[in-house]
Amino acid sequence: MEKIVILTGAGISAESGLSTFRDEGGLWAQHRIEDVATPEGFARNPALVQGFYNARRVQAAGVHPNAAHKALARLQQDWPGEVMIVTQNVDSLHEAGGARGVIHMHGTLAGALCSACGHRWTAPPEMAVGEPCPACAQPTARPDVVWFGEMPYCMDEIYDHLASASLFAAIGTSGQVYPAAAFVHEAREAGARTVEINLEPTLGASGFDERVVGKATQTVPRWVDQLLARRS
Ligand code: OAD
Repeated sequence: MEKIVILTGAGISAESGLSTFRDEGGLWAQHRIEDVATPEGFARNPALVQGFYNARRVQAAGVHPNAAHKALARLQQDWPGEVMIVTQNVDSLHEAGGARGVIHMHGTLAGALCSACGHRWTAPPEMAVGEPCPACAQPTARPDVVWFGEMPYCMDEIYDHLASASLFAAIGTSGQVYPAAAFVHEAREAGARTVEINLEPTLGASGFDERVVGKATQTVPRWVDQLLARRS
């Protein structure tokens, strides 16, 4: 049965009210990546970094999944083959929208990680600087998110899924951050048809077989309807 692999980015959560990174007024226009999204930034100023993620955690707790998140969950339920969702997002809106088995390759705001022993636990709404790890008691708690210069999570698993995909879709991502930006090429090499669904064509749009342009809450439900109609 045809397997679908979907990569999502900040654009799918934009209409839920969460900022993207590279759009006008996005997060990277307001904060320097080196300061808030690198291990070196955290070592230099942990209070700044914890504050950045605390604010995002509070914001993410107050928003709801939109029609695009829900449509992907419906696709997972109704498609006769496997539908794997890989997200670069650290929010939990796919899960809140009903999706299952989502791979969070850039980690999640819901998690805390001990940088000393690797223990993981549920993050409190506000993480304090020097908070002790519940397993090893070192004051080394950090958000369980992947920073620039760190290896994204579950890469072997993701490449296995891409190698067996019949259809690959990238939704709401600018395709500027690797390795996620290269997934389309991996999927194509494996013989998958590829589609980009985004507010506007990205710089890498020509690398896809098909482009769907528009707001995710409109394009994604329509795309899911078309896929499901083709199968029935
Ligand atoms: P970006 O902010 O780079 O890209 C968001 C994309 O979504 C853009 O191409 C927008 O045009 C599009 N978009 C905006 N609103 C949309 C809407 N309503 N419907 C559809 N598309 C819309 O975000 P990402 O590609 O997710 O990593 O960024 C990738 C990674 O860069 C993030 O995971 C994060 C960031 O630095 C780390 O922090 C490690």
